[in-house]
Amino acid sequence: MASFIWENKFNSGIESMDAQRKRIFECMTMIYRDIADFGNKCDSINGLLDQLEILCQIHYLDEEQLMDDLKYPLAADHKLQHDLFLATLDQFKVDNKQCHTVSTLNDFIKLRETFITHMLNDTMVLSEFIKQSPLYSSANTSH
Ligand SMILES: [Fe+2]
Repeated sequence: MASFIWENKFNSGIESMDAQRKRIFECMTMIYRDIADFGNKCDSINGLLDQLEILCQIHYLDEEQLMDDLKYPLAADHKLQHDLFLATLDQFKVDNKQCHTVSTLNDFIKLRETFITHMLNDTMVLSEFIKQSPLYSSANTSH
């Protein structure tokens, strides 16, 4: 069984962003458990996938706003990763007709791995940039 536990290495140090990612992670865990129970019907998983999509869209929009505000030099590539992930999630929703199967479960594990790879690479680079920005430091010490 794939590990769905939040690990310390996923924390970027930007609390609001980590909180969003944890919610996405929890939602993915619910979806994984739902698919893994092959006796389930597909009704509930469709709602959960919609929820996952909304959580990701909100998180990505917040991150992209921050990138624009701080004039992040790698923003274009980072946004492309977001778009690709959302497109993959959309495709997963389309292909989800026979959702409680081993192949759907494997596809979902791949989707989750893509999200984690993004967290461990692009997100960490962005987080370091944000933490070094004077705009971010002043925003976090002003209250
Ligand atoms: Fe991102």
